[in-house]
Amino acid sequence: MSSISEIFETMEYGPAPEAAAPALDWLAAHGGAPGHWINGKWARPADGEWFETVNPANGKALARVAQGGAKDVNAAVRAARAAQAEWEALGGHGRARHLYALARQIQKHSRLFAVMESLDNGKPIRESRDIDIPLVARHFYHHAGWAQLMERELPDAVAVGVVGQIIPWNFPLLMLSWKIAPALAMGNTVVLKPAEFTSLTALLFAEIASQAGLPPGVVNVITGDGRTGELLVTHDDVDKIAFTGSTEVGRLIRVATAGSGKKLSLELGGKSPFVVFEDADLDSVVEGVVDAIWFNQGQVCCAGSRILVQEGVADRLVQKLRARMEMLRVGDPLDKAVDIGAIIAPVQLEKITRLVQQGKDEGATIWQPSWSCPTEGYFFPPTLLTNVSPAATVAQVEIFGPVVVLMSFRTPAEAVELANNTRFGLAASVWTESINLALDIAPKLAAGTVWVNCTNVFDAAAGFGGYRESGFGREGGREGLAEYVRPRWEDRTDRADDRSTVNARRSTRVSRPASRVHHTSPVHLSGSPPIDRTAKLYIGGKQVRPDGGYSDPVLDASGTSAGEVSRGNRKDIRNAVEAAHKARGWAVSTAHNRAQVLYYIAENLAERAEEFVARLSRTEETRIARSELELSIQRLYTYAAWADKWDGHVHHTPYRNVTLAMPEALGVIGIACPDEAPLLGLVSTVAPAIAMGNRVVALPSARWPLAATDLYQVLETSDLPGGVVNIVTGPHDELRPVLAAHDDVEGMWHFGSAAGAEEVERLSAGNMKRTWVGYGRRRDWTDAVQGEGSEFLEHATQIKNIWVPYGE
Ligand code: NAI
Repeated sequence: MSSISEIFETMEYGPAPEAAAPALDWLAAHGGAPGHWINGKWARPADGEWFETVNPANGKALARVAQGGAKDVNAAVRAARAAQAEWEALGGHGRARHLYALARQIQKHSRLFAVMESLDNGKPIRESRDIDIPLVARHFYHHAGWAQLMERELPDAVAVGVVGQIIPWNFPLLMLSWKIAPALAMGNTVVLKPAEFTSLTALLFAEIASQAGLPPGVVNVITGDGRTGELLVTHDDVDKIAFTGSTEVGRLIRVATAGSGKKLSLELGGKSPFVVFEDADLDSVVEGVVDAIWFNQGQVCCAGSRILVQEGVADRLVQKLRARMEMLRVGDPLDKAVDIGAIIAPVQLEKITRLVQQGKDEGATIWQPSWSCPTEGYFFPPTLLTNVSPAATVAQVEIFGPVVVLMSFRTPAEAVELANNTRFGLAASVWTESINLALDIAPKLAAGTVWVNCTNVFDAAAGFGGYRESGFGREGGREGLAEYVRPRWEDRTDRADDRSTVNARRSTRVSRPASRVHHTSPVHLSGSPPIDRTAKLYIGGKQVRPDGGYSDPVLDASGTSAGEVSRGNRKDIRNAVEAAHKARGWAVSTAHNRAQVLYYIAENLAERAEEFVARLSRTEETRIARSELELSIQRLYTYAAWADKWDGHVHHTPYRNVTLAMPEALGVIGIACPDEAPLLGLVSTVAPAIAMGNRVVALPSARWPLAATDLYQVLETSDLPGGVVNIVTGPHDELRPVLAAHDDVEGMWHFGSAAGAEEVERLSAGNMKRTWVGYGRRRDWTDAVQGEGSEFLEHATQIKNIWVPYGE
């Protein structure tokens, strides 16, 4: 007989299996091969191609899934297009009722969804039941609210149109809800392609949504692998692509959509740091690590896969972690007492195994629990790698499995440096009992989400998305809505050239040409500047000669020489980017300080009004020149005003925490200014960027750059720190690609030709910089809606959500 204390020591959980039958019955009722869901009905694949989807816990086939070909994708896009106008016209309240109904249906069928998800994906039922599915319902509830409020809160926005959405296999239904709920709320219709390993809950959702009264064509589901995804990405009649998945595929999609006019949001990979300071509560930290890297078998884009621990507590943490790992249970995902389920597929298991072996080969020490994993199905034990150098493969590459590396640091500054030593920037967590330290570190981490003393918490009210190569755009929260709307004024404008297909797609919409600022005959004023000077470049706060030593004549509107400007080259651009990086103090200067500098620039510009009017009058009528100058001064005031008012939010997430949504500068932004409105175009783009703390390398109007070069002296006398604004004159076609491809430039705006837009978007894929291009669409820079405001400030910032829990 064993004693009670012995029983406590040896006690084991018995199996507590959840029944698979309801999900298997649904599959059987659909012949084990449901097909695509198009226009409110099941559809067989036109090419007759099918593949098997497998239960990763036992390797056995669950169902047959249709491989979507061109005809299927066409049919789905056509259905979505046909349904869109009416869906949008339902209005916010009408759509809110549908989204609310969807939320209710998800709750009603929650167990069926959870079982189907665990069968198809291999995640523990505890997670699908208690985390995934409740969050799915929450997303539909939350966005029912945004539909209701859209007309009031986003009065200048309209739906993008038809949205193609491509999602991964790690959170199949949750990613569906993150994509579909905001898209529908804003009046878009959807073609969704689930991942080939996990299509079943999307198909189940589509049928249940239809039963709940969602009109045909509003949500279409096309199954298939990457080839199907590619067909959707390149489809001419899709207005936006929203993608979650690997950085490699994200990059392909960026290139494939370049210049097409499709809006794009990408949520990509990560290698998120988990930073532990020595005053942290180590027992909480251990549970945090369990959530960070063993949740969903570590197949989580924001998994805390790099533990960075302060030296003094490193050994103690390793000991505690090993003890905890020994207690984890790996096994049947449908067993309610299991912590870690199955890896999605053999290919992923091989990848994890190979990377762990590589870690070992590169010198890491591997620790795994003493017990072994089930032999049937695809399982991998929780794994801790120590003695890892920051440059090691396992410290840099996304493993996407239950494998964590641990490194140590000495000081907070070193922690930040190590944490940011990655090309990714999806998430980070910080563990310390000192709120001061946590809130000092959080803004310094290059990540879209920072969790303080918690990890892997998500909510529909808080935006989620990356910095750097983890992608761009946010899902959730007010900030996520921007991905599914476009400015209403675009419907009123025409394209300057027609390379893009967007206009064709929107051919049903009313168009009228925008008013233009230029195209007038010259008026020569007696005060015109002398023509014999050659304007230099403006780099690092100094006027410098161009590297190549060439200059170009500038002609006024009558064809007479108006002066000369330096012809910048790639070396000058590189110098300008370097100067901009050195001026990083601007990003952390106070908003009050930035506002003062902008007011001062406006004041100094006003002081030299006559000189600028004279200059501008060489290219446009004096009346227009005067109004351009006046508007430029006003616009500087506008952004001086916004500098300390573009506030973040405190999101109402349903946990005991405050979630601070903070707009942060992108970093260095390259701006190819519009050719028209030589002064106003420059001011309207550079001012919002610097107001938000960015530094800028601007290419002024290539045709009429002299107003920009005259501005040097204004900038020099306005307390603007050197390097915050750099201006490089010269041909855009030569300079723009250098900026767009530069790895140290975080954002690139282009307000010129459609061909330039294609080039900027394509070249940006290297470091996944944020781009903003007009596809050749001309803005009316004199217009208060098109030429200034929140659209500019949104593009000049990215939102970081900082989660701070409270309570004992
Ligand atoms: P993936 O990026 O290839 O797949 C994601 C989705 O994109 C799937 O629906 C897939 O069918 C689709 N797709 C693939 N190629 C496409 C293309 N050329 N055009 C359009 N759509 C395409 O990810 P995969 O192969 O499933 O996993 C590979 C690695 O990616 C994993 O080992 C993991 O490291 C990472 N990954 C990261 C995820 C994240 O959320 N950050 C999610 C899934 C995978």
